[in-house]
Amino acid sequence: MFKHHIRAVLFDLDGVVVRTDRFHELGWVRLAEAHGWDFSAELGHRLRGISRLESLDIILGENGLAGVSDADRTAWAEEKNAYYREAVQGIDETDVLPGVLSFIRELRERDIKVALCSASKNAPEVLQLLKITDLFDEVVCGLDITRSKPDPQVFEMAAERLGVPNFHCLVFEDAPSGVEAARRAGMKCVGVGTAEGLPEAPVVIPNYANIDIEALLDSARPFRPEPHGWRLVEDQFRPRRSLYWESMLAVTNGVFGVRGNLEESTPGVESYPATLVNGVVGYTDYQYMWKFPGFPDRGHCVRNGGEWTLVELWVDEERFDMAGPGLKSHRRWLDMKAGSMHREFVWETATGVRVEVKTRRLASMVRRETAVLEYTVRVSQDCEVRLLTRTVGKPRSRHFKEAEVVCREWGQREGWTTGHFESLTSGQGIGYAEQVTANGELVSPLVAKDEVRVEFSRALKAGGSLRLGKRVAIVTELECPRADLLTRAVNCALTAPEIDWLFQEQADFWERYWEKADIVIEGSALDQLGVRLSLFHNRQSVPEDGVRSVSANGQTGDNYGGHVFWDTEMYIIPPILYSEPERARGMLEYRYGILDKAREQARRMQGKGALFSWNSITGEECAHVYEASTAEYHLQSAVAWAVDRYVEATGDLEFLYAMGAEMMFETARFLRDRGCFVPHKGDRFCLNVVCGPNEYSCGVDNNAYTNYLAQWHFRRAAEVFADMERQAPERFRELCARIGLEADEADSWQDAASRMYLPWDEALGIVPQDDQFLGRDPVDMSKIPLHTDVRSLVHPLNLWRMQLIKQADTVLLLFLFGDLFDRETKRRTYEFHEARTNHGSSLSGCIHSIVAAELGLAEDAYHFFREAALMDINDLKGNTDGGVHSACLGGTWMALVNGFGGMRETAEGLSLDPALPEAWSGYSFPLVWRGRRLRVSCDSESRRVELLSGDPLDIVFASEEVSLKIGQPHEATHAKACALG
Ligand code: BGC
Repeated sequence: MFKHHIRAVLFDLDGVVVRTDRFHELGWVRLAEAHGWDFSAELGHRLRGISRLESLDIILGENGLAGVSDADRTAWAEEKNAYYREAVQGIDETDVLPGVLSFIRELRERDIKVALCSASKNAPEVLQLLKITDLFDEVVCGLDITRSKPDPQVFEMAAERLGVPNFHCLVFEDAPSGVEAARRAGMKCVGVGTAEGLPEAPVVIPNYANIDIEALLDSARPFRPEPHGWRLVEDQFRPRRSLYWESMLAVTNGVFGVRGNLEESTPGVESYPATLVNGVVGYTDYQYMWKFPGFPDRGHCVRNGGEWTLVELWVDEERFDMAGPGLKSHRRWLDMKAGSMHREFVWETATGVRVEVKTRRLASMVRRETAVLEYTVRVSQDCEVRLLTRTVGKPRSRHFKEAEVVCREWGQREGWTTGHFESLTSGQGIGYAEQVTANGELVSPLVAKDEVRVEFSRALKAGGSLRLGKRVAIVTELECPRADLLTRAVNCALTAPEIDWLFQEQADFWERYWEKADIVIEGSALDQLGVRLSLFHNRQSVPEDGVRSVSANGQTGDNYGGHVFWDTEMYIIPPILYSEPERARGMLEYRYGILDKAREQARRMQGKGALFSWNSITGEECAHVYEASTAEYHLQSAVAWAVDRYVEATGDLEFLYAMGAEMMFETARFLRDRGCFVPHKGDRFCLNVVCGPNEYSCGVDNNAYTNYLAQWHFRRAAEVFADMERQAPERFRELCARIGLEADEADSWQDAASRMYLPWDEALGIVPQDDQFLGRDPVDMSKIPLHTDVRSLVHPLNLWRMQLIKQADTVLLLFLFGDLFDRETKRRTYEFHEARTNHGSSLSGCIHSIVAAELGLAEDAYHFFREAALMDINDLKGNTDGGVHSACLGGTWMALVNGFGGMRETAEGLSLDPALPEAWSGYSFPLVWRGRRLRVSCDSESRRVELLSGDPLDIVFASEEVSLKIGQPHEATHAKACALG
């Protein structure tokens, strides 16, 4: 197991480890003197970072020497080099950048490989003169390479020699060409110098002071957001990180998500100031060379349904610019306690006015159509302040050149500006209403074809302020007929209270949520932040309206196109189910709403019953890669699993009989028809040519996870069939008649379940991933990058041959059906599969953490917990700019509650077995189970469980049978140590 994401650090030489500028300059001065050319200090400065021949050409140009032959140029360049080499003999420790050598030593102490990568042929000599050659595991210099930066050759060669995949290398560079070379090599990069000098570097440090090495090795950034209790804070403004913060700070409410953009659009600052409207799609064409039956007709992508958070600030006709010199301080943060995003910055204008700006915004969790932005300016001296806010009529979606959602018509109703937006390809409509106030007074808009502008100015006295308030309502065709969109939007807007009230209402909502759901960790503020952030984003992504679900990025971004996957049923629902169980229903109703589409999809796939699409918004399959999507039939059982867990947690039989049972039956039908009894396998029921969660292994036979889950699914569907017949005979008959289901079909599910083929390898004593996996080509895992989807690096025909696992697959089986395997089988199976997993999906680490915790593998358990909890904080996969990883957020809760807390549900009931990771001094979490509220806590001395509300409950706690009653907390008496392991 690699402790850190970064395994090798590659340093450029000049400007990064040493400063040889003065020796180069001496070389040029001597050359100029020898030939009688002019050479000024200013010219010397201009030559820094420029190649020898280019520098020479500049000097010749400055001296008016044209038409010099190549032979002369080469000779003079050589001559300069000779002078340089003579001069550089005088190099000493004062030419080494302060702090770099101790930094390199610290890296080496942590077993990080270090290389020097320089285009200079003299690099080895410079290292020798300084006696620091031994600090580097590898030196790649101008003598080794044939192409100079920005070609990535020098870095790629170093990575190859070090035996570290590019993805895990971090480059330190001081020149734009080197930053570009690192990017082309697929490596991370830290710029050394100034942000203006290295605009393309993802992060820039002025020197080696204050580097947080642990943060650097985990996240390729020399610092982490400081844990500020309930706040996630961006302290320093970095233009290249703005998209990342927009996702992290997004405020969403399940219906739409407002990204955390800076209000003022600024050249050079990447921004996607979108309001992503869940369920509103645009279509794209798929191009196929050969379109097979059942292939999707078109792609779907969630759309940016509004750009309304844009504000321009002018003081005495000077426009504020985030990238300008006047910015004195800046902070942007998410207040998780209050459910709002905030920003504060100070700007000093050219005329010396100190301008303090505070902004706040929310997407209301109480009124799901409402969002608000407030922008308040306070000035230090008399001046004129002008504010302009725009709402774009053609909001652009990130992955598309052309705007595809457009405003058909702007209008005015009852003091509100309305807009009827529509997707050009899907025709779906959005009703929009907005109102802008200045210090509480309504301001009239200027409506142009492509935008609405509201502009006002005030002459302010010193200490005076101006406040812009913008309230919007967004309503879609998913919940409202097209003809009523605008009326509904305006009605919502009219009934919404004032801005302060909306913020208070939101804070009250979140207070109630935290009371029910907060998890407390003692001993690691960073882990606490990661867990709270997971809970916050998870909760604010849940729509509850039954027509939408949660996509793989929630509503914080559209990397995954707004598509809904199995993520929802297996990862996103659990934290909701055990804190506010009834709120999970909407996501299951969404599935029911697309059941007809699933039936169609089953027909298209020449099957029976219903086949939920792997990637879905409207229910239509929109996944392009059929072999690792459509073939992931396990989604069908995941839906049945979530239905069952929901009914178990809530006792909501009404839902089961109205919707849940039908989904369970129809999907069981599909699976029953997809598999068959294979004589060669002893007439066992086999599911061939499938893809399990491990998307690197496609078209495999009998994926163990899929088969065990299908076995459970068949049995449970048959039980529900029998129960429903007894308990709700009329509804049962109606359902069976409607879908043509008869008892012999339910019998055939039982038959398939009892004769299910379940992979097992006697020699290794493990459950193998599938029938083929053990026979696949062994892989040298040290060469495989972790935490990235290697499908973009390897041809599928090569990948499919490999014994390589993308994410928890068989390990997930060990968690879900832990009762079926003894501890040793679990340990062997876990170790075998873990050693071959590259955690290329964010859905992986959390599950490995749970199983490792159960097996007492303390190091793995904590390592994988952190991988999940800090996934977005560390931007581990490098793509949080396109949205947070929703499944991983839920997985973080699972790693804590199911992992460290040892929570399991069995046929006998609830069991808990808390254990404490070494890094913490304690933790506690709430749990809602079958109408009871519990609180579980664990520290180094004790493990406790308390029933907070509800009827008495029998559970198994730390291997003891316990009867819980309100007011009588139970402490484990068992001698087992609390420590994990
Ligand atoms: C994972 C899937 C997941 C999807 C969306 C993929 O990389 O392999 O299991 O459903 O991402 O999160």
